[in-house]
Amino acid sequence: MKIHFTKPLFYALLLTFSFSCKTNTKSKLKTEVTPVTGLITQKAMVVSAREEASKIGADILKKGGNAFDAMVGTEMALAVTYPFAGSLGGGGFMVYRKVNGEVGAIDFREKAPLAATKDMYLDENGNPIPEKSQLGAMAIGVPGTIAGIFAVHKKLGSLPIEDILNPVVALANKGFVITEKQKKRFDQYKELFLEVNQDTILFAKNYKAGDTLKNEKLAETLKRIIKNGASEFYTGETGRKLVERIQSKGGIITMEDLSKYEVKWRNPVRFEYKGLSVISMSPPSSGGVCLAQIMKMIEPYDLKQYGHNSLKTIQVITEAERRAYADRGFYLGDPDFVNIPLDTLISKEYLSYRMRDFSFDKATLSSDINCGMISGYESDETTHYSIVDSFGNAISATITLNGAYGSKLYVPEIGTFLNNEMDDFSAKPGTPNMFGLIGAEANAIAPEKRMLSSMTPTIVEKDGKLWMSVGTPGGSTIITSVLQTILNVKEFGMTMQDAVNAPRFHHQWLPDVVVFEPESFSTSLIDSLKQKGYKINQETSKIIGIVDGILVLPDGRLEGGADKRGDDTAIGF
Ligand code: GLY
Repeated sequence: MKIHFTKPLFYALLLTFSFSCKTNTKSKLKTEVTPVTGLITQKAMVVSAREEASKIGADILKKGGNAFDAMVGTEMALAVTYPFAGSLGGGGFMVYRKVNGEVGAIDFREKAPLAATKDMYLDENGNPIPEKSQLGAMAIGVPGTIAGIFAVHKKLGSLPIEDILNPVVALANKGFVITEKQKKRFDQYKELFLEVNQDTILFAKNYKAGDTLKNEKLAETLKRIIKNGASEFYTGETGRKLVERIQSKGGIITMEDLSKYEVKWRNPVRFEYKGLSVISMSPPSSGGVCLAQIMKMIEPYDLKQYGHNSLKTIQVITEAERRAYADRGFYLGDPDFVNIPLDTLISKEYLSYRMRDFSFDKATLSSDINCGMISGYESDETTHYSIVDSFGNAISATITLNGAYGSKLYVPEIGTFLNNEMDDFSAKPGTPNMFGLIGAEANAIAPEKRMLSSMTPTIVEKDGKLWMSVGTPGGSTIITSVLQTILNVKEFGMTMQDAVNAPRFHHQWLPDVVVFEPESFSTSLIDSLKQKGYKINQETSKIIGIVDGILVLPDGRLEGGADKRGDDTAIGF
């Protein structure tokens, strides 16, 4: 494929003339000819997986709230309108940059229950039982979402919590309109909902696209949370209902687990790339470390000259990804439980050593990359939102239930699904993989430990100022989707909208295969890669990631990128 863009000035002018655009524009798959811009606003913006959630966030910003207030509202609005990944029963990470340049991160990732054991998902022969860590009550990690939003609000918010959450209660009572994509997903998972819950649930009914879905139980729960704070969820009536439901279905989470849950404020990973300063999530997410490793490995190469999605660009990125993901599987886990050689892993010396055997002539074999094994693909049913407020604060938040609708276990009295995040642990660490490599001990299960994640909420600075907030769902492909989106703007001059829409590819060391979005890459390019020894897969992933981002334009206005792959929407003013 040829260079994507060659006329940055033309695009800059086009952005200038798109000034008054107020609705999100979706581009066609092939974006080579005419660049497409997303919503452009003067002051503030929210981009999320659902229009209603972006609107709740944007309304909070409009009435004088800051990005942190809007985070709380958007997060809860996603719990109402996007139960696929938004919930009271999940967890996530947020990276932020305040207007004064101060950066930080909060980890509200789920934790393993106190009764968890290293081999809890193994059968009597020591083999993993995937259903046990993926479906139903045993798969659930202690949820962090409610603790997360209250911690953000307490430390960084400005509006009263009821002003933020009352509109979400109203939304849950009034209902949201089911989209075509959403209806398909409800249909797809209906049988599992019935199997896990042994009864029908709100989301297992026969909906049509266009129907309105109300969740009055969730509205009641939110009202109690507004009144009593986070303790309602962790020590109050809501917590008791949650534990009762989990235990009645054979789970091991107790009130003690809930009462011991706490968020962690973390130092984000920070690194430089060709004049950009990238701030991303630190462990227990692998996102920031892997992103840093890949970007530092590719930094010496002139991707701009090679061209967007050209043979050489794909080779360099693939080889850097291969090496970073090999390290991910071996070294990374919950930093409160394992020592991670973070500084070394992202140092220039180490990373140039890692790339020493790279050649444009032929693919490196993953079997020749000496490091630990990883446990396989993670589920891709996560969601991301980005917010910039009119004061200049920015947040980037990625949240998850892990699988679609998490464990599929629904708590009717609370109106929410519960996660299956326990599946992000290594169920069987220390086992040699097919190449005889040992690893993943760092991500073994232990009571109160957080499971390794790939979520990569990221903020980028240029010339010391806010430049981009970006992130995506996509399991192990999250890191490489965020990477490609940043490169699409930085190296290939794309608009934010085109950057999130552009076709993507992914390599994660094992399996040793480059995954491409189908029908997005030319046959001649794929043939050239095969000739160099790359194994190609264009069947597995119809889409790779659903990226949302906000770009600060040179004149200070904001451009939203809401990925055409989902129902994602940018709203701002
Ligand atoms: N459950 C997906 C992730 O945390 O990366």
